[in-house]
Amino acid sequence: MTGKPCVQTDTQLTLLFSREAIAARVRELAAQISRDYAGRGLVLVGVLKGAFVFLADLMRQLQVPVEVEFVRLASYGKGTTSTGHVRLIQDLEHDIAGRDVLIVEDMLDTGLTLHSLVQQLRARQPASLKVCVFLHKETRTLHPLSPDYVGFTGVEGFVVGYGIDYAEQYRHLPDIYRITQVT
Ligand code: XMP
Ligand code: MG
Repeated sequence: MTGKPCVQTDTQLTLLFSREAIAARVRELAAQISRDYAGRGLVLVGVLKGAFVFLADLMRQLQVPVEVEFVRLASYGKGTTSTGHVRLIQDLEHDIAGRDVLIVEDMLDTGLTLHSLVQQLRARQPASLKVCVFLHKETRTLHPLSPDYVGFTGVEGFVVGYGIDYAEQYRHLPDIYRITQVT
């Protein structure tokens, strides 16, 4: 796939995953999840804000009954580097004890965010707890965590679009881009 750069003020966006590639991969993930959870209900736990677009697409392709919950964890400020601090800003609405739970996250980078969330949710004794991430960076892993479902691996650089932001911008873009500063 060729990335057509799109220049906006001092930043440059380079296409990484088109909306067609995203939709095809989401369909594959949903088919796999539907097979794995066949005959069972599922609680999807979306991590706000970044995962809401992916979760919305994924859930509409699932062939099993789902309930949707959201949590909000802050591990990044407004820049592009991790603060190393994870804070639970918004908790689940309902108890997940005894339920099959699937965390849905936009991105796995150092693993700090998901490692912390998995520990916190595991303590609530769900029947099962799995992780689905759309993008996996792999290169900066600090907390070893193997996601059960992954959209795309080997993602490099800071990315935006499809719900993922840079300083709250670009979430609305239907495709996924790498963002770089132009000086
Ligand atoms: P960690 O390091 O905790 O990072 O695994 C995962 C969280 O950080 C966010 N993240 C990004 N957000 N563009 C973003 O907008 C990126 O390139 C990026 N890398 C990591 C992500 O939302 C996730 O919650
Ligand atoms: Mg996030």
